[in-house]
Amino acid sequence: MKLGIIIGSVREGRVSDRLAKWVENEAKLLDNVETVIVDLKKHQMPFFSEPASPQYNPERQPDKSVQEWLDIVAECDALAVVTPEYNRSYSAVLKNAIDHLDFQLKHKPVMIVAHGSTGGAQAVSHLRAVFPGVLAVTIPPAVMVVGQVSQIINEKGEANEEIKNNPYGPQSALKNALEELKWYSDALAKARQ
Ligand SMILES: Cc1cc2nc3c(=O)[nH]c(=O)nc-3n(C[C@H](O)[C@H](O)[C@H](O)COP(=O)(O)O)c2cc1C
Repeated sequence: MKLGIIIGSVREGRVSDRLAKWVENEAKLLDNVETVIVDLKKHQMPFFSEPASPQYNPERQPDKSVQEWLDIVAECDALAVVTPEYNRSYSAVLKNAIDHLDFQLKHKPVMIVAHGSTGGAQAVSHLRAVFPGVLAVTIPPAVMVVGQVSQIINEKGEANEEIKNNPYGPQSALKNALEELKWYSDALAKARQ
């Protein structure tokens, strides 16, 4: 499985980058997994303004920055999308990145990792309604991290001992969700061939 891990925050002082590394560290414990972290702060794209919906515009000529994003997603078998919850939803920068896609995620699985003061459940719920638009499937488990991420996960993406040893905490949820993601990714990769 080639796993793209999307950092869905471009905010100064963000913590989504820690969570992306946390996901990557755990994903690397699985067999046959290659990871790439995709930072939307580095892949800055214009607001979507093409004349037609990308799926109905085979002649589209995306901006260079957009094309790079499309190529990265196309090469992935699965995505882990890390999003903060902002104002009861997922981040706007993530919505813009999704709106630029056409068929790059078709028949591919997406795992949602949300976080926020209240855990990001509304971000998860809204993203579950959005991904079918780009023909992707969200896997049943999502990972939600409540509260101050900087106090539980360091800059290397390592969770503290309490989190690591809690069988009902986010580390355990992440491990389970990644195993599910791999299952869906392998099954769908076979089916796409
Ligand atoms: C503009 C803004 C709105 C927010 N709204 C919510 C919210 O609706 N629900 C929530 O749980 N947390 C909310 N938060 C808290 C963030 O989700 C939390 O700080 C998160 O870790 C930010 O991620 P980031 O540092 O990667 O940008 C909000 C934070 C900001 C900056």
